[in-house]
Amino acid sequence: MKRQNVMILVFQILLLTLTQIASAETIEPQLDLTGGQCRESEIINTTSTYYTNILTVLSNLRSSSSAEHFLNTSVGLGSNRVNGYYVCRPDVSLDTCEACVNATITTIDEFCFDRKEATIWYDECMIRYTNNSVSATEGNGTDPWHFNYSTFNVSATDGFPALVNTTMRGLISEAVSPDNVHKFFAHGKENFTSFEGFFGMVLCRPDMTVEACESCLLTALGRIPSCCVDSLSTWTTIMLPNCQLRYDTAQFIFDDLPLLSPSSTLPTPAPSP
Ligand SMILES: *[C@@H]1O[C@H](CO)[C@@H](O)[C@H](O)[C@H]1NC(C)=O
Ligand SMILES: *[C@@H]1O[C@H](CO)[C@@H](O)[C@H](O)[C@H]1NC(C)=O
Ligand SMILES: *[C@@H]1O[C@H](CO)[C@@H](O)[C@H](O)[C@H]1NC(C)=O
Ligand SMILES: *[C@@H]1O[C@H](CO)[C@@H](O)[C@H](O)[C@H]1NC(C)=O
Ligand SMILES: *[C@@H]1O[C@H](CO)[C@@H](O)[C@H](O)[C@H]1NC(C)=O
Ligand SMILES: *[C@@H]1O[C@H](CO)[C@@H](O)[C@H](O)[C@H]1NC(C)=O
Ligand SMILES: *[C@@H]1O[C@H](CO)[C@@H](O)[C@H](O)[C@H]1NC(C)=O
Ligand SMILES: *[C@@H]1O[C@H](CO)[C@@H](O)[C@H](O)[C@H]1NC(C)=O
Ligand SMILES: *[C@@H]1O[C@H](CO)[C@@H](O)[C@H](O)[C@H]1NC(C)=O
Repeated sequence: MKRQNVMILVFQILLLTLTQIASAETIEPQLDLTGGQCRESEIINTTSTYYTNILTVLSNLRSSSSAEHFLNTSVGLGSNRVNGYYVCRPDVSLDTCEACVNATITTIDEFCFDRKEATIWYDECMIRYTNNSVSATEGNGTDPWHFNYSTFNVSATDGFPALVNTTMRGLISEAVSPDNVHKFFAHGKENFTSFEGFFGMVLCRPDMTVEACESCLLTALGRIPSCCVDSLSTWTTIMLPNCQLRYDTAQFIFDDLPLLSPSSTLPTPAPSP
């Protein structure tokens, strides 16, 4: 029943698979396309004002991505209004952010150029444009969505489901904590002896309220039992328009940017030019 009228474009992994250098635990961003959706029923005319507005929104997002990890923007009025935003993961540099936003726009050009709305998730960033509200506090905050999980399970006797539940809930609390220097982003590692460890990450759009972020992430966590293997799969990714969460038994946090721990003090920002 749900999403019956929506064509889900599941993209093949186009680019390099995330590789991992086990000894150094160093992960370089390689722009992995995770998934995306365009609404099939809403093909638009490329001579329309709406189409021109999409191009302007995408252009605004592209130019901001070398300077900021997040932007939402709107162009046009009434039925021609296009709302769009991107979010880059705080553990990637602005260079990677720019390259990723650029890559999502190339993907949109390829798969969604004549569609009324599109949402594309890469590991490093996500982008969305739509005629509908993109309010971070109401409506459509949790759809469309994308999930994926490993076909390998850990042994149920390892206490893994409880580890997933406890760790991810802890990260959600940490992400929305006022002490968090990376607003609405948290990641962590727990010991999990059968594997390299247990790694978790949660992320929300930085302009959300604490309540909306927490609710979005709990929605994402709550979807695991029905979409994916109920907390036994060795990795699971849940991507929503306003938030995402991910866990893995291997490291996946990027070393592209030094991450501050919540207790660190922020460096004084350089004055804006
Ligand atoms: C797009 O709009 C133009 C001008 O109104 C029209 O000539 C053309 O047939 C339309 N194309 C489609 C695919 O609807
Ligand atoms: C952006 O993408 C275009 C087309 O794929 C490419 O030619 C250009 O070099 C890219 N720019 C950056 C900064 O990555
Ligand atoms: C967006 O477009 C859809 C389909 O054309 C329409 O049903 C919906 O009302 C539009 N939303 C807004 C906020 O105009
Ligand atoms: C960005 O999002 C916020 C929160 O939803 C909203 O108040 C603001 O108007 C948006 N800005 C633009 C330019 O759409
Ligand atoms: C949510 O999306 C649906 C379908 O695209 C649309 O009809 C509805 O108006 C949207 N609601 C909000 C609050 O944007
Ligand atoms: C899920 O991930 C696997 C492994 O990376 C990949 O081969 C597959 O295409 C992904 N499936 C979806 C629906 O994204
Ligand atoms: C993993 O667990 C699920 C749920 O118990 C099961 O359906 C699936 O077959 C298992 N996968 C493997 C590779 O054993
Ligand atoms: C996860 O933890 C919460 C709070 O600790 C608890 O209420 C809930 O029942 C747990 N869920 C599962 C599936 O274990
Ligand atoms: C994980 O294991 C290491 C090495 O045995 C230990 O030093 C560390 O304290 C453990 N961490 C936790 C959270 O238990």
